[in-house]
Amino acid sequence: MARRALITGITGQDGSYLAEHLLEQGYEVWGLARGQANPRVSRMRKLLSDVQVVRGDLLDQGSLISAVERVQPDEVYNLGAISFVPMSWEQAELTAEVTGMGVLRMLEAIRVCSGVSRGASAGSSAQICSGQIRFYQASSSEMFGQVSETPQTERTAFHPRSPYGVAKAYGHFLTQNYRESYGMFAVSGILFNHESPRRGAEFVTRKVSLGVARIKLGLATELRLGNLEARRDWGFAGDYVKAMHLMLRAGNPEDYVIGTGRMKSVRELVDAAFSAAGLDWERYVVTDQALHRPAEVDLLCADPKKARAQLGWEPRVSFDELVAMMVESDLRLLTDGGDPDQDSSWP
Ligand code: NAP
Ligand code: GDD
Repeated sequence: MARRALITGITGQDGSYLAEHLLEQGYEVWGLARGQANPRVSRMRKLLSDVQVVRGDLLDQGSLISAVERVQPDEVYNLGAISFVPMSWEQAELTAEVTGMGVLRMLEAIRVCSGVSRGASAGSSAQICSGQIRFYQASSSEMFGQVSETPQTERTAFHPRSPYGVAKAYGHFLTQNYRESYGMFAVSGILFNHESPRRGAEFVTRKVSLGVARIKLGLATELRLGNLEARRDWGFAGDYVKAMHLMLRAGNPEDYVIGTGRMKSVRELVDAAFSAAGLDWERYVVTDQALHRPAEVDLLCADPKKARAQLGWEPRVSFDELVAMMVESDLRLLTDGGDPDQDSSWP
């Protein structure tokens, strides 16, 4: 019988790539979607017609229990979150509820539906049982925040710099705690920034690729950005979702850092993207203090050795290939009259 996966965050960038990957692997894929008239759900249904939808919200415990009861998943991937860091200062409480407490609600739904009691016998000596639901938590390199060492590994201390990072750290430790308390197969992938033509337009890579496309096509004359000196370890989302699956198929439940091990600054990103369209970025980019953050994460760089050694995972798409892919995709999208806010660059 086909394995069954339940994905929260199915309408997001990673949800779409993960669903495609799992469908290719022969899974029956279910996506948890919220809202009574969420336009991103109909967009997702059009492009991922083999994904089945179950309604639910990370803010609503009962809906998660119902979803797990209905789907009877073998694997749950918790990708749902408020994921845009600046929004987490503006709506800190909501971020804590969705990105942090949402993890607790999902873990509780699995615990209750699996009949795992809170009794002492379910304590740290609990064994991983075959047939139990395996759980993946989308942890983030943003938890490292003000980094204490470079590159960052599974053992690097956390010093989150945003309410988002703090909420992710809560979800991370809670996942570890459910593994230790109840013997659940519950793991976290500490993923560094990963991008694609399906990336939301608010994130810097997509803001830049769309900006370049608009300027190239004469639809804009400038691109307004914040801190050009921040450095990130950017990879391709299609590569990273494969690591999520490998973590849930591994023999033991463990946490992994996933990234490329290479850092680039926002300035280098901008240079690469404008160059990909034959443009000189210095003629178009304007920096704006209003786009700087209350507390910045200056640099992030992964040490993905453990994932390579234990999961056999490696990123395939290079930084330059990723940037060229995104710029080409946005040039095509705008040339065809697409609306990035509605269509993004799906598929
Ligand atoms: P994304 O595109 O922003 O998608 C976020 C998803 O969360 C959307 O499907 C959204 O659904 C859903 N969501 C928001 N509020 C919800 C709620 N109350 N209940 C249920 N679902 C809700 O994010 P992504 O880039 O795919 O990232 C996936 C996950 O990985 C996130 O948890 C993110 O924090 C984490 N992460 C991402 C990166 C990265 O670089 N991309 C790196 C590390 C970790 P709606 O359509 O209903 O809004
Ligand atoms: N969004 C944005 N817009 N970022 C800008 C801009 C701008 O105009 N100008 C400079 N930046 C800088 C930000 O200050 C940050 O240092 C860097 O570009 C990356 O910003 P984002 O693309 O918004 O991503 P992020 O690093 O804050 O967060 C992403 O990666 C995390 C993993 O490290 C998100 O996907 C998070 O959900 C994820 O956990």
